[in-house]
Amino acid sequence: MKKIFAANWKLNKSPLEATKFIQDFMKLAANGVFNQSDVLIFPSAFSMDAVSKACAGTKIQFGPQNIFSEKSGAFTGENSAEVAVQLGAQFFLVGHSERRQLFSEVDALLNQKVKLLQSLKVIPVFCIGETLDQRDAELTETVCFSQIEKGLAGIDTTQRLIVAYEPVWAIGTGKVATRDQVAEIHQKIFDKLTSMGFQNFQLLYGGSVKPENAKELLQVPHVHGFLIGGASLDPNTFYKICQS
Ligand code: PGA
Repeated sequence: MKKIFAANWKLNKSPLEATKFIQDFMKLAANGVFNQSDVLIFPSAFSMDAVSKACAGTKIQFGPQNIFSEKSGAFTGENSAEVAVQLGAQFFLVGHSERRQLFSEVDALLNQKVKLLQSLKVIPVFCIGETLDQRDAELTETVCFSQIEKGLAGIDTTQRLIVAYEPVWAIGTGKVATRDQVAEIHQKIFDKLTSMGFQNFQLLYGGSVKPENAKELLQVPHVHGFLIGGASLDPNTFYKICQS
């Protein structure tokens, strides 16, 4: 199975900058990175059309960082998953910790979003992870399992799913989880999803992934790839991670 390298650009990159990134990345990728790696890009909403055009004819796949739980209607300011699919999006971030913390997205809403994505036959990248306080209180497993149980309740376990484990304390902080910490929780998440009947899923790690730590983390059992924030903004750096 190929490893997955997903760039979460957050609120960065204009349409022009996004296009330039993809052109630069494709020059670097000319020597065959796609043989071992699936490359995904999550641009901000206004740059997704440009990403869609720039990715046409390449093996880069893309999708939005957030969608609303309804396809259309009187929901001023929201973005439609159905329209994203029309632009070619196949992968959708759901429940990133910034959505949960800064925009008060709760498990029940995230569950509706996952169900909508399944109805559209596209792939949710469902994000989970504990805060530092929760880890210090030894609640890592409790928090992750609760996010899984509530966010993925009642969904079709035969459709493809990606779960991204991102400890909140490691996101954008430069503090990366240790190999042992990642190994322990990924094994538990793997067992949990298996016990819930999921048959077709991959697990990503996210939180201060860089070219320097990518190789080691990729060797951890049940790490099938990464969700990468800061280090995905530069094509050279992102490419180095994709080569790990
Ligand atoms: P980071 O972000 O790589 O900058 O820590 C990861 C993420 O938020 O997905």
